[in-house]
Amino acid sequence: MPAYITSIIAVLAMVQPCDKVKTVLRSYKDPAGKEPICVMSKQKNCSDIVSQLSRSFRETMGYAEGVICFAPGRVNLIGEHIDYNGGHVFPCALTLGTYGAAARRSDDRIRFYSMDFPDDGILETDLSSIHTRTGKHWGKYALGVVWAFLEKGLSISSGFDFVCKGDLPPKAGLSSSASLEVLVGTVLRALFSVGDPADPAELPLLAQMAENQYVGMNCGIMDQFASANGKKDHALLLDCASLDFRYAPLDLQDCRIVIANTNKPHELVGSAYNDRRAECEEALADLRTVLPDLPALCALTPADFAAHKEAIRRDLPRRRAAHAVSEEARTLAAFDALQHHDLYAFGRLMNESHISLRDDFEVSCPELDLLAELAWQTDGVLGARMTGGGFGGCTVNIVRQDALATFTEKTNAAYRTRFGYEASFYVVRPGDGAALIS
Ligand code: GLA
Repeated sequence: MPAYITSIIAVLAMVQPCDKVKTVLRSYKDPAGKEPICVMSKQKNCSDIVSQLSRSFRETMGYAEGVICFAPGRVNLIGEHIDYNGGHVFPCALTLGTYGAAARRSDDRIRFYSMDFPDDGILETDLSSIHTRTGKHWGKYALGVVWAFLEKGLSISSGFDFVCKGDLPPKAGLSSSASLEVLVGTVLRALFSVGDPADPAELPLLAQMAENQYVGMNCGIMDQFASANGKKDHALLLDCASLDFRYAPLDLQDCRIVIANTNKPHELVGSAYNDRRAECEEALADLRTVLPDLPALCALTPADFAAHKEAIRRDLPRRRAAHAVSEEARTLAAFDALQHHDLYAFGRLMNESHISLRDDFEVSCPELDLLAELAWQTDGVLGARMTGGGFGGCTVNIVRQDALATFTEKTNAAYRTRFGYEASFYVVRPGDGAALIS
């Protein structure tokens, strides 16, 4: 069996044990024509993870957990790098994410343990010293959410113990950090009955606040919002200016969403992400010299932008703004295409999105570009683009079911030849947002 096939199997085995990925993909059918078989499926592994988590909680904390919660990762179909420019984004939650077991304590102590980072041991602190930062430790994403709750005056009446485990591919840009943050928020709500579960924006905003102000990553709202509010078999069109959103059924006909992972580690903090935000802010400030009431870059139509873009003094912020304005138009057009069941138009807009992210926003990389280009050359791939923050991570592809095996095999062979290591592929199905499981 060729090495690249083995590697695909290795990754897929995480989510759906199988002997031969080729067999899985080639026999990939919709039984009864409605329930898409999902390779990245929570249902199969969920109970395993929950029992492992429960056992780990007992071993590390010495007693049984009180609640178990889950929060998913996300994949963004289109609308990239515009959540912080007042634009629309179109993500869906995945069926994979982070699980957490937790229980209240009678004192003020907080103890965190991740089954994914056993060498880090148990992170311990007190509610009263939560402002202390924790360097590079994974626990800063979790502690940041506790900090945000306290900052917002949401009462956490005692300490608690927390053990988590994720099943997202690590460092793939599928929002494992946001899923951990939203998970901790869901756990806090469940343990302390705090906050307003009827408000879909509350938890995402608290999680974003944790990431912006505690972790130091100036992310937008998309990942946390999708993790908190995803819906099975739907994508979510979110207006990031108002936080109004609507669900769109993902009628994929004979196609599937395939995520292709570059396996190039992606690290947002300390990357050029914060620079991109600053460049967009510079463009907005320049535009406001001629359009004083402009609320955000994405409030401009492409025609308005063409008329006023010379107000942006430097070329770099002007190109960043060009991406934001065109991506907003593409996202709305893509939503419209989906409503009209036109997956081909949707795919073309995805391709254009990649080109804009590559050339104007400059957040792609050779690995992502090659995966997208190979996809564009494959019959049966309707659209392909980088997804998420960029600089590594994954592409998202709309692939006809009968082209799945050819697509993954040919793409991986060419990818390995160029970079000397393999990509991984996941067929995904949109899942539900964060929830209390038990
Ligand atoms: C990261 C950020 C999001 C968003 C995307 C790019 O995932 O966390 O807020 O900006 O990048 O669309």
